[in-house]
This record gives sequence, structure tokens and C-alpha cells, in this order.
Amino acid sequence: MSVKISPSILSADFANMGAAVSKLADWGADWVHCDVMDGIFCPNFTFGPPMIKAIRKHTTLPLDVHLMITKPERYIDKFLEAGADIITFHAEASESVEEIIDTVHRHGKKVGLVLNPNIEVSSISKYIDMVDLVMLMGVYPGFSAQKFIPETMEKISQLKDFIGERAVQIEFDGGVSVDNIAEMEQRGLNIAVSGSFIFGANDPKEAIKALKFASKLVNG
Ligand code: DX5
Ligand code: ZN
Repeated sequence: MSVKISPSILSADFANMGAAVSKLADWGADWVHCDVMDGIFCPNFTFGPPMIKAIRKHTTLPLDVHLMITKPERYIDKFLEAGADIITFHAEASESVEEIIDTVHRHGKKVGLVLNPNIEVSSISKYIDMVDLVMLMGVYPGFSAQKFIPETMEKISQLKDFIGERAVQIEFDGGVSVDNIAEMEQRGLNIAVSGSFIFGANDPKEAIKALKFASKLVNG
């Protein structure tokens, strides 16, 4: 099975978000990656629950909401009510990691922890039996189109070993392109986020196809 593609709308035109999101299913996207930033946890601002609610009307694809905010526990209910299907957050930003995981599960939705490039896989050992997925960052949170940090590639293999037989999926965010997705898949990747590679392409539909094709090459 090829890797799922979750285009990051951080790279879309914010003034035409409805139009951008409504095209994603036809482009072959599997999820829609929504980057929520508060200007404190990371050096940029984006949007909150009202935007999730607004784009929910423009697609039936699962909304993959990546919270780069301090104390995400304050807003989990709001993001769920707005229509989030998958919520990922950074454990170091929260004082209530287990409560967040429980809340998301009580709503029947999926939850995952995110590891910045400098955070060890073993740091989440306490939570690995509770989450549906773990997302590795290939860049530091804040902006699209940053340079991929090559050392993060090896963490996919470490995470895969760490997960073992558990049904925990691996997602990767930051710097994904046709140049590295095949190796990521080989190491155990399940879901690839991609912003600038897709939205910066002349033909985003072809870009998604190219990502899926490159990742499939590994499996033959
Ligand atoms: C980074 C965001 C990413 C980003 C990915 O802070 O979490 O989702 O938009 O963009 P690319 O694929 O361009 O690195
Ligand atoms: Zn993201």
C-alpha cells in the first residue's frame, strides 16, 4: 500500500482556502493537513477552530489538525466540535497529555503526538500505548518550504522499531518531496504531509501523483 498524502494548507492561498480545499480529493489527497500556530509555541500565526469549521464544508476528506500551540488542552473540544478527525500535538507544550488523548478518543477521533527534530523517540514511551499515530517533524514548526533536516530520516526507523507490533501509524511532516519519500516509505512511513512540494508545483495533482508513485517504487 502506498503512503497516504496529507497536503498542508499552510502552503495554500489563505484568501481562497475554500477553493483550495475543495480540489484536494480530486487531486488524490487522502487527508487535509491543517497547521494551527499560536505565535508562542512557534514563530508564526495561522488560524483556529473557525477556519477548521469553515473548511469542513468544502471537503469530505479527514481533517488532520496539527496543533503547534501552547497548552493545547484549552482548545481540544473546540477543534473537535469544528470537525477535526485527527488531532496531533506536541507533548512538551501540554500539561495534560493523557487528558487530551482521552478527550479525542471519547469523541471517536484519532490522536497523535508530534516529535520535533531534537526530541527523542523514547521521550513518548509513556504514551505509545495510548495514541493512534506519532508524527515526526523534518523541520522545526513555523513555516512551509524549510530545508529538510536529513538526521530526521533515521528517526523513522527508530520509531518503527519502537512501535513494534502496536497498531500505531507513522506520519512525517516537513520537507517531504519526491527525493525523500521513497526512503521514508522503506523505513515504515504511513502518512506523508507535504506543503510546498504540492502547492508550489505548477500542477499540484501531478505533484501528488508523483509522491505516490515515488513511494510505490519501493514496493515494486
Ligand atoms: C511546519 C508545518 C508543516 C509545513 C510543511 O511548521 O507543520 O506542516 O507546512 O510544509 P513543507 O512540506 O513545505 O515543508
Ligand atoms: Zn504540520
